[in-house]
Amino acid sequence: MAARDDDPARRAGAILTIDLGAIAANWRGLRDAGRADGRPIDCAAVLKADAYGTGAAMVGPRLTAEGCRQFFVAHLDEGIALRAVVPDHPICVLNGLLPGTDGDFVEHRLTPALNHLGQLNAWRAAAQRFNRPLDAIIHIDTGMHRLGFSPDEAQVLANERGRLRGLRLALLMSHLVASEEQANPVNGEQLSRFRNFMRTMPGAPASLANSSGIFLGPDYHFDLLRPGAALYGINPLPGQANPMLPVVSLHARILQTRRIDAFQTVGYGGAWRSARPSRIATIAIGYADGYFRTLIHRTHVYLAGHRVPVIGRISMDLVTIDVTDIPENECQLGATVEVLGRHVTAEDLADHARTNAYEVMTALGRRYARLYVDRPETAS
Ligand SMILES: Cc1ncc(COP(=O)(O)O)c(C=O)c1O
Repeated sequence: MAARDDDPARRAGAILTIDLGAIAANWRGLRDAGRADGRPIDCAAVLKADAYGTGAAMVGPRLTAEGCRQFFVAHLDEGIALRAVVPDHPICVLNGLLPGTDGDFVEHRLTPALNHLGQLNAWRAAAQRFNRPLDAIIHIDTGMHRLGFSPDEAQVLANERGRLRGLRLALLMSHLVASEEQANPVNGEQLSRFRNFMRTMPGAPASLANSSGIFLGPDYHFDLLRPGAALYGINPLPGQANPMLPVVSLHARILQTRRIDAFQTVGYGGAWRSARPSRIATIAIGYADGYFRTLIHRTHVYLAGHRVPVIGRISMDLVTIDVTDIPENECQLGATVEVLGRHVTAEDLADHARTNAYEVMTALGRRYARLYVDRPETAS
């Protein structure tokens, strides 16, 4: 990857490139998948964890320009930060209403997902105190057993609709446990519990499908799709071809190369030993940048089209690669290697690190130079 003199990447040890046009195209594709059966379904965007590591401050405005009109984050502070760049559209804070924060929600025009009766009561009290109707998003637990109204609490709400007085019921939502496993019967069980609850709140807009949930078919679409991962290129259909466009690539620079004799060790703990005279390159990335220590001896990078094994322990700031078989002129100091991208996807890296692509993305480090592109071939 070339870096021009005026390029912020010039000084950087590693460069993260994020294609906003690809995120926009992925959003359009998901929205259109939801509309395939002809209903005018809306598609929101989940931007929690800094838009899965890609930068909510950039992604929010880009998706707004694309037509996205509803956003979800996890934390109140994420919502406040997003409000600064998405001034006009509803932002829901999924983690809900913590005691003493109702004023912050009202001030920044954020909507908490109400996860239990206590939060509903507090939000109704806020509506009274601020003397205005506030939007209510009711999160029903249909099987995740993590956040949301329990079946008993949902029954109380169904029987006592007055508990919503002073509030405008903006959305009923629930979250799927295993939507990426299309044959898992829990999907259908959650769907039927969600429908049962919806019957007690006729006319309220509803949302169930995350990224993989969209691919479970129209029964799961309701009024609002709620994708996160797939926007950022993560495959919503594990084991099948990825229908999403790739969004991120990560390149790290070669800092130094050296020759070592046979039977020498490399890195902390002497965890790798050369079987032959070898050439080793050290690149500027480490576990402090989200390159997991569990990748030891399980992954590779790409250098000028060659697959190059990562060897030795992952350090905080450095990784060593075995370039013995790579022509020397391709291992120049300052050259970049692909750590994540077309050759090594987030799914590959996740598999090598024994985690999932969500964790790879949300662990993406803060020290990279970030280049935002909006590639014409992916934009509308
Ligand atoms: C409540 C809720 N809705 C939607 C999403 C988006 O899910 P995904 O990233 O799988 O599309 C999440 C993410 O975990 C979530 O917690």
